[in-house]
Amino acid sequence: MKNNNRYICTSCAAIYPAWQGKCTQCGAWNTIILEEINEGISQTQKCIEDLQTFKIQSTRTYAESRIKFSLNSFNNILGGGILHSQVILFAGEPGIGKSTLLAQLCSNIQTKTLYISGEENFDQIAQRALRLGTPDSFENIEFSNDTDLASILTYIESKKYEIVIIDSIQTVTNNNSFNNRITNQIREYASLITDAAKNSHTSVLMVGQITKDGSIAGPKVLEHIVDTVLYFEGNYKDDTRILRVKKNRFGKTSEIAVFRMSNNGLQEVNNLEWFFIDNLKCEEGLAYSIYNEGSVYFIIEVQALCIKTSFTYPKRISNGYDAKRLEMLIAILSKKLGLPLENCDIYVNIVGGIKITDTSADLAVAAAIISSFQNKPLADKPCFIGEISLTGEVRKIHKQTEKIKKAKEYGFKKIYYDKVMPNIKLLLEHNTL
Ligand code: TYD
Ligand code: MG
Repeated sequence: MKNNNRYICTSCAAIYPAWQGKCTQCGAWNTIILEEINEGISQTQKCIEDLQTFKIQSTRTYAESRIKFSLNSFNNILGGGILHSQVILFAGEPGIGKSTLLAQLCSNIQTKTLYISGEENFDQIAQRALRLGTPDSFENIEFSNDTDLASILTYIESKKYEIVIIDSIQTVTNNNSFNNRITNQIREYASLITDAAKNSHTSVLMVGQITKDGSIAGPKVLEHIVDTVLYFEGNYKDDTRILRVKKNRFGKTSEIAVFRMSNNGLQEVNNLEWFFIDNLKCEEGLAYSIYNEGSVYFIIEVQALCIKTSFTYPKRISNGYDAKRLEMLIAILSKKLGLPLENCDIYVNIVGGIKITDTSADLAVAAAIISSFQNKPLADKPCFIGEISLTGEVRKIHKQTEKIKKAKEYGFKKIYYDKVMPNIKLLLEHNTL
């Protein structure tokens, strides 16, 4: 038996050989804790006859049926529902609506389900459930407040339930251990739960609370153990909630579903293309582009404001678009188009609070800046799809064909991309049309 100690960051799961105050990977302070690992590598040889291997058989079908919930967007982002023995980590900050979404998933479910909650007592769970559905709609659900690890493993292995929900993994305790709720314990519990799910073909959905200070193990340390990782995000001021697939062994990643939190639970949002804006406008400083997350294609509105500066160094302020990229774009526009932008403060905003993480909106940002600079709206509300290089060339972007197709579907009459507008010099011509 070898006994090794190592240090792990509770916020991002980075591993260190010695303790340090700041995690160099995620930048968090005081999140690194000691983790004891017992590597019990057995030297005893096993008899080969006792070991089991498998072969693919032509007589058996391997396509598994998926368990479907009454929330279609939840099924869709997972590839059409969940598989038997799939283990899903459902992560989010406290109060974001994880338990609400889980209760909604349970309503009208046709599959025997157990909901184990260590966060709320039965009355609180029942009150929430009745806010979201009738008692009959929860006919197939049983609830438990027993978060002892041994009980959870017994429930899963009993095969009495097809789905077991654990709300949350941080509340699981091990009555046989004193050392509860620290990172390596939580990882150990998640790993035992995952083994039990695989052995018994039970699907498990476990909630992972994200704590801002990282004092308790964050869901990051569990990501490699489970099959699927979902993040539930939102803004407390706004009622929008976004469910994101971060990892999925049985489907696509980067898929999203959007909900609005209402008095009657989470409402699915459809027609996502119009989610960030209501309609297309023809005003100076406005340009449109198409942005995608997974298989959702949004219309985005870029707003720019150029105004004569009264500072020694002109201001460049960006909201939703990378600030350094904005500086670069302004430099390209000044040099290649000869625009005196060094005398202007420039503000750029992507409407609706969305953050553009790729370069696909470069052309739209450039068009919006020129439109504001010239005090001229862009004729015919065009859509711009493309990256701008340092030479002023318009470059093809990832998923360009799909974006052009969607732009046409969404009713754009004029669409500019690398083939139509190979160089930003053409922006000046098109801008004055
Ligand atoms: P909850 O699901 O308990 O969050 P989590 O499990 O992520 O900690 O719900 C959080 C908030 O949602 C809570 O402030 C109350 C609100 N809420 C609604 O606005 N409408 C509803 O129908 C429900 C059930 C909750
Ligand atoms: Mg909860």
